[in-house]
Amino acid sequence: MASSDTSRVPDAGSGQIRQTLPVKAGAGAYDILIGAGLLDAPASWAGLPESAHGVIVTNEVVGPLLASRLMRGLAGRHARLSVLELPDGEAHKDWATLNRIFDHLIQQGCDRRTVLYALGGGVVGDITGFAAGCYMRGVPFVQVPTTLLAQVDSSVGGKTAINHALGKNMIGLFNQPLRVVCDLDVLHTLPEREFAAGLAEVVKYGPIADAAFLEWIEAHAHALRQRDPEAIAHAVRRSCEIKAQVVGADERENGLREILNFGHTFGHAIETATGFGTWLHGEAVACGMGLASALSARIGLVGVDVERRLAALLASFGLPMRPPQLPPQTWLELMRRDKKAHAGLIRFVVLEEVGRAAVRPVADELVIDVIRAAA
Ligand code: NAD
Ligand code: GLY
Repeated sequence: MASSDTSRVPDAGSGQIRQTLPVKAGAGAYDILIGAGLLDAPASWAGLPESAHGVIVTNEVVGPLLASRLMRGLAGRHARLSVLELPDGEAHKDWATLNRIFDHLIQQGCDRRTVLYALGGGVVGDITGFAAGCYMRGVPFVQVPTTLLAQVDSSVGGKTAINHALGKNMIGLFNQPLRVVCDLDVLHTLPEREFAAGLAEVVKYGPIADAAFLEWIEAHAHALRQRDPEAIAHAVRRSCEIKAQVVGADERENGLREILNFGHTFGHAIETATGFGTWLHGEAVACGMGLASALSARIGLVGVDVERRLAALLASFGLPMRPPQLPPQTWLELMRRDKKAHAGLIRFVVLEEVGRAAVRPVADELVIDVIRAAA
């Protein structure tokens, strides 16, 4: 997938280089800003609506770390700016937490012009985007992703959702943000395990869309693990570029966007079966990408060298490659609920070569064989 143009804009406030990457999705368009020191720089928020109410939706971990910096950046933009701290974790990506957002908005007298700022990882981003799409039939929101995973994936493209006990991200809607602001400085406090989970989604873009990017990740694996700022900036930028191109071509996942689900059919089944939050999303996706590349090799699309190459890279980031022990029937039942399934037929994102993916139905027996071989 070709590189698109990003502009490198010197930030007037900090002197840092800030990159602006445009996203076109459906009828709308918005920018992803990527750089250091963006949270408290007023320039990051310029041009967004200055309505009476602003609400920062965050969680009990991220709020104490970062809400005051964001409030500095937003100073003067809203007559009333409140902060709502949700409980932390994937287990709380549910109706009860969604309702807490609605309770807050109603109690604060928020109107249709209220702007929501989703300050957190993918959980906060997904649930806030969903709430924004429903409150008073829709209010604007801004994604302020604070995990690597959210910066390279979940904050871009407008997928919002909560989990259902029977399936991951089953209830939600497409709702694009007004802007995505990726402040690279916030990643310093991210726990090691969460950082590795984010690297899984970075790796994903190589095999599905950009062989040269996969080579770059392999060559910079050490720098990435060490959180080298230049390596992280490149990984975030290239990941967002690829995601923006895919979403731009297929916002509602009628075709091409399905490739972004590489590893997710297995991964979502792992998350649901083991209880949300037991495996991190990125960990489940890493294991799922190992299985999906093994499946691709098994049906003769790529050689086993591709499967081994991906598994080695993901394992070098400390990501788990061995799937949990689940009865075959459980795997199949959960994967039949996957949103890519058609009439009960499970469809998998497979690799046709490194840098090119496709979606195919695969016989149940083959899938179970591949899982057994990896377990
Ligand atoms: P998360 O939101 O649970 O964040 C991970 C942990 O890191 C949490 O404990 C959080 O409080 C903490 N944290 C966040 N920022 C921090 C910081 N700067 N410093 C210290 N701690 C910090 O998990 P995630 O990995 O960011 O996101 C996973 C979620 O994203 C899943 O629910 C997944 O389904 C969703 N997702 C959505 C999309 C999409 O397109 N919408 C894509 C990929 C994943
Ligand atoms: N993370 C998959 C998608 O955004 O489509």
